[in-house]
Amino acid sequence: MSQTHAIANDLHTDNEFLSDVLNGLNSSPKTLPPKYFYDAKGSQYFDDICSLPDYYLYQTELDLLPIVAQDLAKHIKQQDESGLEIVEFGAGSLRKVGMLLRAIPQINHFTAIDISHEHLISACRTLESQYRELSITPCVHDFTKPLKLCSTARTRIGFFPGSTIGNLNHREAEEFLNNAALTLGKHSYLLIGVDTKKSESVLQRAYNDTKGVTAKFNKNILHRINRELDANFSLESFGHQAFYNAEHGRVEMHLRSLKSQTVFISGEPIEFTRGESIHTENSYKYHPPEFNQLAKRSGWSTEKLWLAPQDQFAIYLLKHRD
Ligand SMILES: C[S@@+](CC[C@H](N)C(=O)[O-])C[C@H]1O[C@@H](n2cnc3c(N)ncnc32)[C@H](O)[C@@H]1O
Repeated sequence: MSQTHAIANDLHTDNEFLSDVLNGLNSSPKTLPPKYFYDAKGSQYFDDICSLPDYYLYQTELDLLPIVAQDLAKHIKQQDESGLEIVEFGAGSLRKVGMLLRAIPQINHFTAIDISHEHLISACRTLESQYRELSITPCVHDFTKPLKLCSTARTRIGFFPGSTIGNLNHREAEEFLNNAALTLGKHSYLLIGVDTKKSESVLQRAYNDTKGVTAKFNKNILHRINRELDANFSLESFGHQAFYNAEHGRVEMHLRSLKSQTVFISGEPIEFTRGESIHTENSYKYHPPEFNQLAKRSGWSTEKLWLAPQDQFAIYLLKHRD
């Protein structure tokens, strides 16, 4: 019988949320940290984005994972027969880890780390009903910080799908990889899904869907600030904008003020000129040699690389050089 434990980690107090928001909006250019997209509603919007045909990242990675899981099963078999733990960073709805669980029967413990509390607990309950023998630990935690895991696992495989690493800039991505090594411990692996550089039109469509789902996801951060930080953003007064910035190799997502306006957040006024933007998210794209170098700088070497057709997406198996 599996057990589900919730680790009650205090993620961010209201004060931390408020100070992050005020710091970002008092900067020039204005920014907001993308981790605040993800309350229960934001996680639901992200799932809706994943079902859009133009958001190729989700389905392309999902299609590649059965091959990856089979290869990984052979690879791990040679290395360790004694039981394995998977630790998923930014676990979301847990729709991808099942591929690994089915292909690698030695996995006996699963730790799911995510910042979106309610969504994580509900996804773990669903997984628990499907894998009754698996011990599952949901962990509400900011994955950019190292974590002391409560299991006493022998070999751990980190799992970081969805190209979530693309939401971190290069320095933050290196820091994440360093911290992941601390969390996972010696002799660990990291299986990581990373989006590749490709034609601008494909990227443009992926982040600008015609149904407006990505726009709702983007604006959810304002809705959340209104609700949790006593603010008065008018959502209709901001427009969703996403474009590829070739110089930086990233898709940028912005919320652009459609008029000059003053918004109050917990009593503090924030001025917007017409056309001024809040930079809400980056999604960095990597050619495989670029990502190999980034991983190497953080002490990881690439053991295997799987590429989707037309190099649309890449999954790397990294091994830490302890
Ligand atoms: C792009 S989604 C990917 C979801 C899922 N892994 C997938 O591949 O479909 C990013 C996930 O990471 C979570 N997340 C974002 N920033 C986080 C942070 N700093 N710490 C923990 N979780 C975070 C979000 O709640 C969300 O579930």
